[in-house]
Amino acid sequence: MRRRDFLVRSAVLALAPGGLAACSGTEPAPPTGWDAVRASFALQPGEHNLTAWWFSSHPAPVRAAIERHRAGLDADARRYLTRREALEDDVRAAAAAYLETSPDQVALTDSTTMGLGLLYAGISLRRGAELVTSTHDFYATHEALRLRAERDGCTLTKVELYSRPDETSIDEIVSNVQLALGPATRVLALTWVHSSTGVKLPVREIADVVAHANRDRAPADRILFCLDGVHGFGCEAATPDELGVDFLVTGCHKWLFGPRGTGLVWGTPLAWAEVAPTIPTFDQQEYFAWMYDQPTALPPGPLETPGGFHSMEHRWALKEAFEWRQRLGRHAVERRTHELVERLKAGLDGAKHLALATPRDARLSAGMVMTVPYRSDPSDVVERLYDRYRIVASVTPYRDAFVRVGPSIVNDEDEVDLTARALRELA
Ligand SMILES: Cc1ncc(COP(=O)(O)O)c(C=O)c1O
Repeated sequence: MRRRDFLVRSAVLALAPGGLAACSGTEPAPPTGWDAVRASFALQPGEHNLTAWWFSSHPAPVRAAIERHRAGLDADARRYLTRREALEDDVRAAAAAYLETSPDQVALTDSTTMGLGLLYAGISLRRGAELVTSTHDFYATHEALRLRAERDGCTLTKVELYSRPDETSIDEIVSNVQLALGPATRVLALTWVHSSTGVKLPVREIADVVAHANRDRAPADRILFCLDGVHGFGCEAATPDELGVDFLVTGCHKWLFGPRGTGLVWGTPLAWAEVAPTIPTFDQQEYFAWMYDQPTALPPGPLETPGGFHSMEHRWALKEAFEWRQRLGRHAVERRTHELVERLKAGLDGAKHLALATPRDARLSAGMVMTVPYRSDPSDVVERLYDRYRIVASVTPYRDAFVRVGPSIVNDEDEVDLTARALRELA
């Protein structure tokens, strides 16, 4: 038996009931378990990929599910598609189990960007309403909000939540959000973990501020707290209810290691009531209502899931991604990611020619670690990391360029130590 086959088999055993998933509390996952998890990915041998979450590498169960559906579609798409609705329901159910929510609250999309576009296009707004976001958010949030603001004559405000990411605090961020909310604010659009700086927002504390601001508002005037969750989702353990947001928008093809081209929007029932669909669903109930001119009342999840035929094999294999992750355990993955991140940050402590841009505090950071090299251009550092050490890193796609790495469940301690040494040397 080849090593990869052996490890993949071990992974199945480790992930069986009583295996890794049985770890509870602060008990660390057994190292053999994480080796098996690593072996489930088909990453380039000899490379140390600290950006495998960027556009996810598929673990074995996801690859197998994609292949199964692809073969079915290739053989006879017409007949295979008769199971379309049931397969999509299964995905929504698996997502809901992971999110600890109802499938009716989960709309399936192709990406975070699609979810943000649909949400900000469809949210009910009075003329003159204010949309508040931060200067640290990603292009997709900024542009989706700008397009909507221009269409409906709304005000778009971008606030700075911190001046120095490495020195920021929960207080600084929360008080800046509080100051930004006014009587006309309808949307608060923020990002769980900033891909610009690695700062993880204190989402629960911000949600409490929003709840306080909403206490006397009518439903049509409530501030809707919308979160681009993509760099926390699948890496941090918090559920949307624990976060306290109105909407969580995420791709499933980053830290969750789900099929490429998948994502979701979760909303509370109250918040979904404030959003109209933009792309018609292909749900049969809605389709027959159209055909026979009948009224229908589809729940928001299926109603807000864009119709049309997609890369269905990827969409349907999202079920296996959630199930695999459930077997690993949300909290075990969070602990593992934070252990590796903490190890990397400790390895960079006292570096002469390099500073952390990401906070050291685990309450304010997640899986991504941004660094500032003093002597070299970040792109050169990234190139040399690969040329000399086969370490795959990236440069932040923002005006302030940092070297960005993100240890994840595909990595181990040796790779993290090598990365710390290499960064110190090349910065
Ligand atoms: C914060 C943030 N949101 C969204 C995206 C885009 O995600 P998706 O590919 O799911 O649209 C990125 C980067 O790819 C990002 O950094």
